[in-house]
Amino acid sequence: MAVVFDSVAVSFSLFLLLLSHEPVHSETVQEKKGLLAFLSGVAHANRLQWNASDSACNWVGVICDGNQSSVYELRLPAVGLLGQIAPNTLGNLTQLRVLSLRSNRLSGEIPSDFSNLTLLRSLYLQNNEFTGDFPQSLPRLTRLARLDLSSNNFTGSIPFEVNSLTHLTRLYLQKNQFSGTLPSINPSNLTDFNVSSNNLNGSIPSVLSRFPASSFAGNLNLCGDPLPPCSPFFPSPVPSPSEIPPEGPVHKKSKKLSTAAIVLIAVGSALVAFFLLLFLLLCLRRKQRRQPSKAPKPTAAGRAVPVEVGTSSSKDDITGGSAEAERNKLVFLEGGVYSFDLEDLLRASAEVLGKGSVGTSYKAVLEEGTMVVVKRLKDVVVSRREFEMQMEILGKIKHDNVVPLRAFYYSKDEKLLVYDYMPAGSLSALLHGSRGSGRTPLDWDNRMRIAMSAARGLAHLHVVGKVVHGNIKSSNILLRPNQDAYVSDFGINPLFGTATPPSRVAGYRAPEVVETRKVTFKSDVYSFGVLLLELLTGKAPNQASLGEEGIDLPRWVQSVVREEWTAEVFDVELMRYHNIEEEMVQLLQIAMACVSTVPDQRPAMQEVLRMIEEINRVETDDGLRPSSDDPSKGSDGHTPPPESRTSPRTVTP
Ligand SMILES: *[C@@H]1O[C@H](CO)[C@@H](O)[C@H](O)[C@H]1NC(C)=O
Ligand SMILES: *[C@@H]1O[C@H](CO)[C@@H](O)[C@H](O)[C@H]1NC(C)=O
Ligand SMILES: *[C@@H]1O[C@H](CO)[C@@H](O)[C@H](O)[C@H]1NC(C)=O
Ligand SMILES: *[C@@H]1O[C@H](CO)[C@@H](O)[C@H](O)[C@H]1NC(C)=O
Ligand SMILES: *[C@@H]1O[C@H](CO)[C@@H](O)[C@H](O)[C@H]1NC(C)=O
Ligand SMILES: *[C@@H]1O[C@H](CO)[C@@H](O)[C@H](O)[C@H]1NC(C)=O
Ligand SMILES: *[C@@H]1O[C@H](CO)[C@@H](O)[C@H](O)[C@H]1NC(C)=O
Ligand SMILES: *[C@@H]1O[C@H](CO)[C@@H](O)[C@H](O)[C@H]1NC(C)=O
Repeated sequence: MAVVFDSVAVSFSLFLLLLSHEPVHSETVQEKKGLLAFLSGVAHANRLQWNASDSACNWVGVICDGNQSSVYELRLPAVGLLGQIAPNTLGNLTQLRVLSLRSNRLSGEIPSDFSNLTLLRSLYLQNNEFTGDFPQSLPRLTRLARLDLSSNNFTGSIPFEVNSLTHLTRLYLQKNQFSGTLPSINPSNLTDFNVSSNNLNGSIPSVLSRFPASSFAGNLNLCGDPLPPCSPFFPSPVPSPSEIPPEGPVHKKSKKLSTAAIVLIAVGSALVAFFLLLFLLLCLRRKQRRQPSKAPKPTAAGRAVPVEVGTSSSKDDITGGSAEAERNKLVFLEGGVYSFDLEDLLRASAEVLGKGSVGTSYKAVLEEGTMVVVKRLKDVVVSRREFEMQMEILGKIKHDNVVPLRAFYYSKDEKLLVYDYMPAGSLSALLHGSRGSGRTPLDWDNRMRIAMSAARGLAHLHVVGKVVHGNIKSSNILLRPNQDAYVSDFGINPLFGTATPPSRVAGYRAPEVVETRKVTFKSDVYSFGVLLLELLTGKAPNQASLGEEGIDLPRWVQSVVREEWTAEVFDVELMRYHNIEEEMVQLLQIAMACVSTVPDQRPAMQEVLRMIEEINRVETDDGLRPSSDDPSKGSDGHTPPPESRTSPRTVTP
């Protein structure tokens, strides 16, 4: 640390002379000490001399409020600051509205105590040499309107939590080393956005495609509007030989002809040969195993798919010209809103959303811009008829808190389900998104809102749809930007044999399910109870963050509550909100009832919903919660969920 302290020491005596003329300043000692400690930790230009005896409000770069009672702004652009921001220095300026340290040579990470700057509106840190991940403290500064981290050396991914900065109008992250995919960043008033010159890849979320291409230029592999479309991930249906050379390596450049063309042709014909061979092999194998009509193993490699996808297992005759006719076998369920066919779907650019034990989910962007989620199932054991019957049942389920199943595709080797795409991501991402830490900016009212809307969706599945969800977990709770939850991925357990563990993620699985491998309404209630505990504790039930090895979330909560340390159960993130203890304890009691070991002791889902709604009703009667005019609420006559009273954000759908 280069200590440039002499100027401060020199100025001391002069201060004494003038002391009597100065008005009494009351900017807190803590703020002043914090500022001095910050400056003493970094080298800086000579003209930046802070007189320790003087009021900080008179210092260069420091602006106080009208009362001179606290520091409102600290602006030190281009004053040659060099070195690291020491922890617990600037974080003490808790009244700060504007912080500008741009165009210096500050390095290292942003200290975590920046999270204390909760009133900050503008943060300018561009043109420095900061390193480390996107600072975890920043998403908590929920009043931020302008955030500029450009031209630094930040690394890691851009967290989804940026969305908690609902007042953001400007987000500049260009010229860093951010990597991974770009989350759907969608504060309602965002007008300036730039992530150019980073190492981002994947498709650009549709909510960001309104920004110009220069906002995204210079990244590793970003694609989709406004940049060129992403290269198709799904293989095309039966490639006709003439199509392959242009289709093969899909990159857009068509300039460098001579050598590139030769390579293309070579690769193309190799591919053709490969596909023809594969095609023949599969034909042969098909013929061979026609009699034992057992469930086929899906072809392992994605590349093998095109041969099979184009044909239907009902005809089973690939040699004729019937493949064409059988192609559009995508079955849309009633009330659908889409009009595309299988070929459109297979041509769509796609991005892996997640891989699970029952298959892989993709976000597919169709050519006209429609986005859907395609779930590609593996190890389906039921027959086509049974599959179709289950789809029929699931397709009928329509509710504001349930992600609708729109279409399905069934062939011998490929089973696809098509759902609506929910851009705001999952509860899991929101709660645990940032690097394994359980602390999030999700406030209490939004957690209640998620609990209640998820309960509504699940109760609808049980009571009206008569369908067991079978896989309740936080990554299957998808969110709207206003934090209303949707239940997704329901009712597909019957498609798999008992060889696949029914509730696939340990931690949410009811004890009896582990033995019987059979999911029931009551096992859903158990999983939902675990989900409530996750909302309350901020802990992921399937991660070993509970101290002891092998202890699950319900047992951990039980042990803590038994020791009368109830307060310790709750997410530390919730501790800063007031007057919510009562509600938290009530929700905890509901959750504990849900996770009873004995299935019969668990309440039914509609009962769970009623109890959660009652927590809410008490508050509404107090007049504390203005009702929302959210049009998405169904005609079920329930109290609309509250707007947040604990966080300053105004929620916009
Ligand atoms: C520091 O402040 C005191 C009191 O305001 C003043 O008398 C003194 O001249 C200042 N020192 C310098 C170097 O400006
Ligand atoms: C900042 O505030 C903390 C807590 O109030 C205090 O412990 C610390 O000493 C302060 N830092 C400085 C440099 O004064
Ligand atoms: C001045 O200080 C008083 C008491 O500290 C406070 O109530 C008032 O809001 C302040 N005024 C301004 C303009 O900051
Ligand atoms: C700032 O935050 C730290 C924890 O990050 C805390 O220990 C400290 O007391 C806070 N300081 C103030 C002034 O709030
Ligand atoms: C920051 O990045 C610049 C250019 O990208 C590089 O020259 C410099 O060495 C990096 N500094 C650190 C500390 O990584
Ligand atoms: C967006 O801007 C409008 C108009 O300036 C303002 O009224 C509104 O509060 C802003 N919304 C958010 C979430 O900041
Ligand atoms: C982006 O890059 C990372 C690491 O380089 C990789 O794991 C990931 O699959 C890529 N995502 C896409 C959509 O290309
Ligand atoms: C984004 O930043 C890059 C690099 O600084 C710049 O060239 C480009 O014009 C910016 N685009 C927008 C829309 O701000």
